[in-house]
Amino acid sequence: MRIVNVCGARPNFMKVAPLMAAYRAHPRIEPLLVHTGQHYDANMSRLFFDELGIPRPDVNLEVGSGSHAAQTAEIMKRFEPVVAESRPDVVLVVGDVNSTIACALVARKMGVAVAHVEAGLRSFDETMPEEINRKLTDAISHLLFVTEQSGMDNLAREGVPAERVHFVGNVMVDTLVRHLEQARGRDALRQLDLEPNHYAVLTLHRPSNVDSAATLTRLFDALRVIQGELPVVFPVHPRTRHQLDAMKPAGRLADMRNLRLVEPQGYLDFLCLLASARLVLTDSGGIQEETTCLRVPCLTLRENTERPATCSLGSNQLVGTDPDRILAGYERAMSGALPCQRPPLWDGHAADRIAAILSKWPDRPAVPAGLQTRSEVR
Ligand code: UD1
Repeated sequence: MRIVNVCGARPNFMKVAPLMAAYRAHPRIEPLLVHTGQHYDANMSRLFFDELGIPRPDVNLEVGSGSHAAQTAEIMKRFEPVVAESRPDVVLVVGDVNSTIACALVARKMGVAVAHVEAGLRSFDETMPEEINRKLTDAISHLLFVTEQSGMDNLAREGVPAERVHFVGNVMVDTLVRHLEQARGRDALRQLDLEPNHYAVLTLHRPSNVDSAATLTRLFDALRVIQGELPVVFPVHPRTRHQLDAMKPAGRLADMRNLRLVEPQGYLDFLCLLASARLVLTDSGGIQEETTCLRVPCLTLRENTERPATCSLGSNQLVGTDPDRILAGYERAMSGALPCQRPPLWDGHAADRIAAILSKWPDRPAVPAGLQTRSEVR
């Protein structure tokens, strides 16, 4: 069984890493790795391959940046000959980035089965490009691997046949579990002159937050107060860096002496920073999950989350972008321990479960007409 695994952007790399490792226990599986090149800076891509021990990609499509249409189309154009040449049984995509939907669509139209890891998550906010990517990818996938109960409920409501859906846990947690001890040994706190449990970590990259000067201004109003009490370390995503340069809120930032802008961090240093933080503020999806695993309070600077288990079970609070709500969430987070537990199956073995299912697939003859795969047709 040949499986082409697709990764393209930073949050994909920690998801494919445990899968590539788990396949080794299944001689029937022959994995290939394709990097679309959606992210290409060394500290957004190569560093993650090195630190997580991900094999060198068999193919790099080197698509780079562009508008949504241009980037998605370019990935599709360059991925199609890879599928034609390698003739996989399954194309496996992860997450919700443009590379995910682009490669799923190419595979599906070429009669190749699609597996989607992290299926079923929904923010119910279609202004998010990722929400569109998620819904479309799930709609054309043959195998849907789900991280949390809400994903199972969403797919059932959307009418996805239950036999295609597998509740397996969270591959990103596999990577966290595997690397936590090593990360704790890193020098990141000393390098930034931070004391354990006495600093906050901030990340921002959602277009809805960083592409709007008004929203950024509101966020910085809240951060001004927080950094007065707690140093805030802010690894700046390239998109955010462009916007900060363009909008020049530098005047607003210059007098926040405890807000420390740093370059995007590698996986291990960032995990080291998260693990000892008093608080995390973010608009990322993955960081909501990582803080829940680490039992570190998280304030999500968005109005919604596609990962509700991080709020109902974990350490996450949705606080939006209004300074008063952010500061109220901050007070709650600082006032004492919030109840926090790991969602079911976030145990470090999700990739093993996925590899085991893939190694036996297809294990039943009754795939509905129109969903036949190349391996069944042969
Ligand atoms: C993408 C994903 C988002 C994910 C995020 C993590 C989509 C629609 N969005 O958003 O879901 O949470 O990655 O980072 O797929 N850039 C660089 N160097 C790089 C990569 C990007 O400078 O290595 C700059 C480019 O100017 C680019 C901008 O960042 O235009 C945005 O990159 P892009 O891949 O389009 O989307 P992200 O905002 O990173």
